[in-house]
Amino acid sequence: MKMETTTIAPTFDVNVIRKSFPVLEREVKNKLLVYLDNAATSQKPQGVIDALNYYYSNYNANIHRGIHTLAEEATAAYEATRNTVKDFINAKFSEEIIFTRGTTEGINLVAYTWGRKNIHEGDEIIISTMEHHSNIVPWQILCEEKKAVLKIIPINDEGELLMDSYKNLLSPKTKLVSIVHVSNSLGTVNPVKEIINDAHEVGALVLVDGAQSTVHLDIDVQQMDCDFFAFSGHKVYGPTGVGALYGKKEILEEMPVFMGGGEMIKEVTFEKTTYNNLPYKYEAGTPNIADTIALKVALDFVTELGKDIIRNHENDLLKYATGQMKLIEGLRIIGTAKNKVSLVSFVIKNIHPQDIGVLLDNQGIAVRTGHHCTEPLMNRFGIPGTVRASFAMYNTKEEVDRLVEGIKKSIKMLS
Ligand SMILES: Cc1ncc(COP(=O)(O)O)c(C=O)c1O
Repeated sequence: MKMETTTIAPTFDVNVIRKSFPVLEREVKNKLLVYLDNAATSQKPQGVIDALNYYYSNYNANIHRGIHTLAEEATAAYEATRNTVKDFINAKFSEEIIFTRGTTEGINLVAYTWGRKNIHEGDEIIISTMEHHSNIVPWQILCEEKKAVLKIIPINDEGELLMDSYKNLLSPKTKLVSIVHVSNSLGTVNPVKEIINDAHEVGALVLVDGAQSTVHLDIDVQQMDCDFFAFSGHKVYGPTGVGALYGKKEILEEMPVFMGGGEMIKEVTFEKTTYNNLPYKYEAGTPNIADTIALKVALDFVTELGKDIIRNHENDLLKYATGQMKLIEGLRIIGTAKNKVSLVSFVIKNIHPQDIGVLLDNQGIAVRTGHHCTEPLMNRFGIPGTVRASFAMYNTKEEVDRLVEGIKKSIKMLS
C-alpha cells in the first residue's frame, strides 16, 4: 500500500528533526514543552501518526486469512515491518521475529514457554541488580513454580556490573542469564557480548532486555550471539502496544506454544491440534495490525537519519547535561558508569524526587520521578527514587539549560 510519508532531513539538524514531532510544539503550563521522559516513551514523528491514520482510512482489514485486496495490502504491510525489524537488529531470518505488545510480553513469553519446559528444581537463573521489574518478576514466578533459584549479579557504586561476581555465579546449574542491555535508571551500558560468551561456556542461554538499547545502540543479534532479544516499539519512536521478541530459530522451533487461538494453529480437531510454523506459532489471535505497520515508519526514520549520528547528538547532550548538573550544589548523580548513554538520574539532598518533578512540570519540563520500575536497584543505593531526565534525537542544549535552571529554581523554592 503506497503512502506519502513525511520526508526527513538528509543531514542531522535538530531544528529540522523537531519539526517532524508535532507534540514538541505544544505548551505546558504556558511554556514550550521540554520533553525529557524519553526512556519511558519517546514522542512519535508525523510519519508514524500518518501511517496509523492512513491504515484505518484506506486498508483496515484483518491479516493473513483474507483473500480480498484490503486484507492482502494489510498483510503485506504487516509483514514488511517484520522484515524491517529483522534488518534493524540484524536477525538472520524474518521468522525469528515475533511481534509482541512490548518488552514485557517478550520476556514473559520466554518465561512461560522456554522456561516452563527447561527450568527444573535446583536450576539457576541469573539476573542483575539493575533489572527492570519486567525482567525480575517473570523469573521469580517461574522459580517459585519450579523450585529453581534466582541469582543476582551485584553492581558497584557507579552502577556497573561486578563481572567477577557474575563469573563466580555461573555454573553448570545456570540455565538462563537474563540481562538488561542499557539500564533505564542509570544509563549503564552492560557488556552483553562478554556476558553471553561466559554464559554459553556453561551451557546457559541468554536473554537481552533491549528496551532501552534498541533506540540508542546498533543492535546486531547475530554478532551479540544472544538467544533472545526483546524490545518495545514505543521507545524507538513507534506506537505503543507493539514490540518484538527475537529468538534463535532452532530455539523457537523447540519451544512450546504460548497462547492458544487463531493463527497459531495448523489444524484443529477435538482430538488434537497441530501448530503453525514460526513466527505465527507465537502470534495467536488478531494482532496489533495498525501499530505494527506504523512501527516500520519509525524504524525507517531512525535508520535513514543514522543511529550513529543520533547517538553522537544524544551523547553530546548527556555530556553537557552531566557537566552542568554536577555544578548544582546538593545534586548527586546516580549512575556514573564509564559506558553510559542517554539519561541522567539524580537525587537532591533533603528534597524528595517527586517534589522536584512537580515543580519542573510547572515550568513545562517533563521528567520522570520515582523508582522507574527498578525498586531493588533503588534499595541498593538506599534511596526511594530519582529524578530522571532522558534524551532523544530531538532534544537540544537549550532544553538542557531550561532543565538546569528549572532544577535550581525548584531547589530554591523547596529549601
Ligand atoms: C529496561 C526496561 N526493560 C523493560 C521495560 C518494559 O517495557 P514495556 O513496558 O514497553 O514492556 C522497560 C520500560 O521502561 C525498560 O526500561
